[in-house]
Amino acid sequence: MKNYIKHNEWQIIEEGFDPHLNKISESIFSIGNGRMGQRANFEEVYTGETLQGNYVAGVYYPDKTRVGWWKNGYPEYFAKVLNATNWIGLNITVNDEVLDLNTSEVLEFSRVLDMQQGTLTRKFVVKQVNGNVLEVEAIRFCSIVDDEAGVIKYTITPHNFDGKITIESSLDGDVKNQDSNYDEKFWNEINAREDGDYALLNLETKKTAFWVSSAIQTLIKQEGKDLGLKPVFNKKEKYVAQQFEVAVKRDQAITIYKYAVNLSSENYKKEDLEKATIERLKKVVAKGFDQMLTEQANAWAVKWQNGDVVIEGDVAAQQAIRFNIFQLHQTYTGEDARLNIGPKGFTGEKYGGSTYWDTEAYCLPFYLATAPQQVAENLLIYRYKHLEKAIENAEKLGFRHGAALYPMVTINGEECHNEWEITFEEIHRNGAIAFAIFNYIRYTGEQKYLAEYGLEVLIGIARFWSQRVNWSIEKEKYVMLGVTGPNEYENNVNNNWYTSTIATWCLKYTIEAIDLVRIDNTSRLNEILSKTNFNVEKEINHWQDIINKMFYPEDKNLGIFLQQDGYLDKEQVLVKDLPAVDRPLNQKWSWDRILRSCFIKQADVLQGIYFFEEDYDLDTIQRNYNFYEQRTVHESSLSPCVHAIIAAKLGDLDRAYEFYLRTSRLDLDDYNNDTEDGLHITSMAGTWLSVVEGFGGMRIKNNHLHLHPVLPEKWESYAFKIGFRQAIVTVKVDKQKVTLKNENEKALSLHIFGKEEHLIANGTLELNAHSN
Ligand code: BGC
Repeated sequence: MKNYIKHNEWQIIEEGFDPHLNKISESIFSIGNGRMGQRANFEEVYTGETLQGNYVAGVYYPDKTRVGWWKNGYPEYFAKVLNATNWIGLNITVNDEVLDLNTSEVLEFSRVLDMQQGTLTRKFVVKQVNGNVLEVEAIRFCSIVDDEAGVIKYTITPHNFDGKITIESSLDGDVKNQDSNYDEKFWNEINAREDGDYALLNLETKKTAFWVSSAIQTLIKQEGKDLGLKPVFNKKEKYVAQQFEVAVKRDQAITIYKYAVNLSSENYKKEDLEKATIERLKKVVAKGFDQMLTEQANAWAVKWQNGDVVIEGDVAAQQAIRFNIFQLHQTYTGEDARLNIGPKGFTGEKYGGSTYWDTEAYCLPFYLATAPQQVAENLLIYRYKHLEKAIENAEKLGFRHGAALYPMVTINGEECHNEWEITFEEIHRNGAIAFAIFNYIRYTGEQKYLAEYGLEVLIGIARFWSQRVNWSIEKEKYVMLGVTGPNEYENNVNNNWYTSTIATWCLKYTIEAIDLVRIDNTSRLNEILSKTNFNVEKEINHWQDIINKMFYPEDKNLGIFLQQDGYLDKEQVLVKDLPAVDRPLNQKWSWDRILRSCFIKQADVLQGIYFFEEDYDLDTIQRNYNFYEQRTVHESSLSPCVHAIIAAKLGDLDRAYEFYLRTSRLDLDDYNNDTEDGLHITSMAGTWLSVVEGFGGMRIKNNHLHLHPVLPEKWESYAFKIGFRQAIVTVKVDKQKVTLKNENEKALSLHIFGKEEHLIANGTLELNAHSN
C-alpha cells in the first residue's frame, strides 16, 4: 500500500518526482473519453521506467495463443486492445541536450488530474546536465465533446539561459504491446503525408486489418504571439513528425499547442478515413485549445451534475468516489453497443482490454442508475450479438443443442482465455450474463426486452447448465463437477455453491421468462421456440427436475453454505492470523500453497448471497458473512465492494466503511500492489455500489425503489443521485435526516426504511435519520 497521492476533493495530486512510482502514476493519471484513452506518459522523452499506452476503442489484434501445454478447446488467439499510435510525443532539445527527466535533476514536480474539467496537468522545473534550468507546464485532455481528439498545451520557460529549443512533435506508430505473445509488432503502415500544417499517419493492424488514421497539427506561440512557424516534416517507418526550431530568451515562455485526432475504420469506410481525419483535425484546430477546454469543462460539469456523489467530512472518501466515477466515464459512454468495459479500461494492457463478467455483475447496476437506459441496454445487446459465438464456444467443448457458454474473456464473442481452470471451469460467468438481463428488467420494468433479445440468450444459457450437471447415483442429486467459482484461489472443485445456485436460478428464471413472453407476445415466443428448436415439454421438465434435485453443499452445524465439497477439510486459518509479510498471497506464496489453503480471493458464497439476498434471512446472511469474510484476502478488486454492501446491510458500519475505503482507494493507494499494470476500472462501479446499495441501502423490489440509508460515523453527510423509471431522485443523508428530492415531472412512490412514501413531481421529502 502507498500513500503518496494528496487528498483533495476534486483533484488527484502527486507532488515531487519519484521514478519508482512513475508507472503507478501513469495509471492513476490516465485520461480518456470512451473512444480513446491513454496512460499518463510524459510528452517529452523519458528513458526511465515507463509503460507506454495509447488505446483506441474497438481496435484489437488476435495475438496467437501461447501456452506451455496445449489443451484441446483452447482458443487460437487472445484478442487484445493494442497499443496504438502515440500522439503525445514532443521531443524537446534544449541547446542540444534532449529534455529527459531521467537524466536531469528534477527540482520541482507535480501532476494533477482535475476531475471537474477532465484535464491532466504536469508542472516541473529541471536542471539539465548542461546546467540549463527550465520550467514546463503541460496540460492535456482527451476531449469528451470531440471524442476523436486530444490536445496538449505545453509551455516551456527558460530560467537561466538564452538559446535554441528544438521541438519534434510526433505521431509514433512504431509501438508494441508489452504483453505481445511473440514479441511481434501489431501494426503496418499504410501511408503518411503532410501539407505544411498537418502530418498524418495511417496504420493497419495485422490480421484484423483495422485502420487507424491519426493526424496532428502543432502551433507555437512565444509570449502569447503565434510564431507562424512552418514545420520541417520528418518521416521514418510508422512515424511522422513536425520539427521546429525556436530561439528562446531567459524568462520568455514558449507554448506549444498540439492537436491530435485518431479515427478508426470501425466508424468510417476505409476509403473515407483519411479525408475524415483531416476534417476532424481542422475542426479542432479551428476551435482552438481554450474553446476546447471550455467545452470540456462544461461537458464534465453536466456529467457531475447528473452523477456526482458528495461526501462531507471525509476528503479521502470524497476524492476516491469521484476518482472512480471519473474513470468510469472516461472509459465507457455507452453510445456504441460494439464496445464494452475492459477491467483496465484504457489504462494498461493487462486483461487485454477485453470483456469479463465484471461488466454484468458490477458495472451494469452503475449504468442502470446513472445513465440513460440505452446505455445499460447496449451492454446487454453486446452479449446478445455474441450469442452465436457463445453457442459455438460451447460446441467446441462438447455441448450440444444450442447450449451457450459465454467466454470468460472476449472482444468479439470468441473465447480468448487460455488457462483450463478458468476457460473451461470458471463457468459462473454464464450466470452473471443471465442475471444482468433479470437485473435490467427489474430496474427498468422493460419486460419487452425478454421477447426482443433476452429470452434467446437465457435459453442458450439454461441449456448449458442443464448439460453441465450430472446425476449422482450416490447422492441422488444433480451435481456440478470440476468448476472454478469466483474465488480463483480454488480450481477444479466439485459443487461450488455459488455456481450451482446461479445455475438453477438461471433455469428457474428462463422458465419464468418463457411464461412471461407467452403472455406478452405469443407469436414472438413461437418464433423463438422454433428458431431455437425448443421442445417445451421435454426441456422444461428436465430443467424442473434439476431445480428440484440439485445438490448444494452446506454445513448444518455451522449453519453456512459450503463454498464447495470438502472446504472444511482445509486447515482453517483466519486472515487476521496471516503475517503481513505474506500478503498479497498471490505475490508471496506458491500457487499450490494458495490452492491448498482456505484463503479466499474474493466474494464467492457471498457473491451469491449478494445477488439473491431476498432468498435468505438475516441470520443466514450474518453467519455466512462472519465465516467467509474472516477467510477472504480480497486480492481481487471486485471483492471489497460486495463485502461493504453486505456489512452495511448487517449494520456493521465500521467494517462497511473500511471496505468502502479499500475499494474506492484501491488504485489511489495501490492496495494490491498492482496499480502500475493499470486501474481496476470495473471494480470502480463496485465502489459506487458500496455507497448507493451499501450505505444508501438501495434495492429494487416488486417494481419499487427501496432505500435504507445509514451514515458512516466519519461522514457529516453524503448525497447521490439515481434515475429510476423517469424519476431522478437525489438522496442526501446527514446525521439528523434523510432528504429526498424528485427532480422530475414524474411522481414516484418509493419505500424508505420499509415504509411507502410518495414523492410528488419536483417534490422534496424529509425524514428522520435512522441509526440502522
Ligand atoms: C478476478 C475475476 C475478474 C478478473 C477481471 C480476476 O482477478 O478474479 O473475477 O473477472 O480479475 O477483473
